[in-house]
Amino acid sequence: MKDKIYKIKEEALKDMNKLKTIDQLEEIRVKFLGKKGELTQVLREMGSLSKEERPAVGQIANEVRKELESELNLTKNKLRDEMKKRKLEKERIDITMPGNKILLGHRHPLIATMEELENVFMSMGFSIVHGPEVETVENNFDALNSPENHPSRDLTDTFYITEDILLRTHTSPVQVRVMKQKEPPIKIVSAGRTFRFDDVDDTHSPMFHQLEGLVVDKNVTMANLKETIDIFIKELFGYDMKTRFRPHYFPFTEPSAEVDVSCFKCKGEGCDECNGTGWSMELLGCGMVDPKVLENCGIDPEVYSGFAFGLGIDRIAMVKYGIDNIRLLFENDMRFLSQF
Ligand code: PHE
Repeated sequence: MKDKIYKIKEEALKDMNKLKTIDQLEEIRVKFLGKKGELTQVLREMGSLSKEERPAVGQIANEVRKELESELNLTKNKLRDEMKKRKLEKERIDITMPGNKILLGHRHPLIATMEELENVFMSMGFSIVHGPEVETVENNFDALNSPENHPSRDLTDTFYITEDILLRTHTSPVQVRVMKQKEPPIKIVSAGRTFRFDDVDDTHSPMFHQLEGLVVDKNVTMANLKETIDIFIKELFGYDMKTRFRPHYFPFTEPSAEVDVSCFKCKGEGCDECNGTGWSMELLGCGMVDPKVLENCGIDPEVYSGFAFGLGIDRIAMVKYGIDNIRLLFENDMRFLSQF
């Protein structure tokens, strides 16, 4: 019986030497040590041995079992290590190879400008609101006091969708929407697309962008308007910038003004950019909200007053980024956009 046990051991070790996978190893474990394994079988036959023989054989059998078990475990670890090594070899990466370039997008210069403007106004206590690009004639013109025969209402100036619906020609209808919905105090800005029937040239596009501002409260005066615009321009372009208010006419503000800003290039010295005047012209339009407009929107002009302003975002983006042709903003040419 001892011989039988040793033979089993030898055989098992031989099998183990040949095996290549962990599955095969498990097969060997079952074959020799499993419930119906060869060694187990032998142990079962121990009953037939004499009392004297039993302990010695039992001891041998147990030793062999232990040996085989530890051998199996060693082999298992060895196989595992080998497999890992093989896997690492196969999946080897060359960390000196140049990586794949990840193309990160970024804000369009126009959107970046728009957000910068909004941020300046938010820091001054304004809320951001949004208005639709498709507007009613009522909000875009009528409520804003623009006379029936005003040239901007003409079919040749404005994109009409129906007789009463159009693509907004400015962001001012947002004023109407806000005033109709909200009790003063009101302090908002609203940026977005606007549309006019313009031919494309270096500075004009039928689609452009404006930012509208509106403040309505008790005791709001022209001084508040001037201060707000002045600080905004300084925050945006630098504290060496000056503003100049020239009288103007808008149907929905009275009095109205156009604002010029120190020339961005020479800062007021006079250069070829500003034709020697030292001023960048017509950066924004503004004025005190016409009492009639307040009334149209359900706000009592005897109690409240307000100011409004509108500025062209495209022009500001062009100045900020040194872009001399508005077409570049809308062509989406990556060679141009990736510069910013
Ligand atoms: N909506 C005017 C324009 O497009 C600008 C403006 C806004 C003027 C608000 C006064 C007050 O020209």
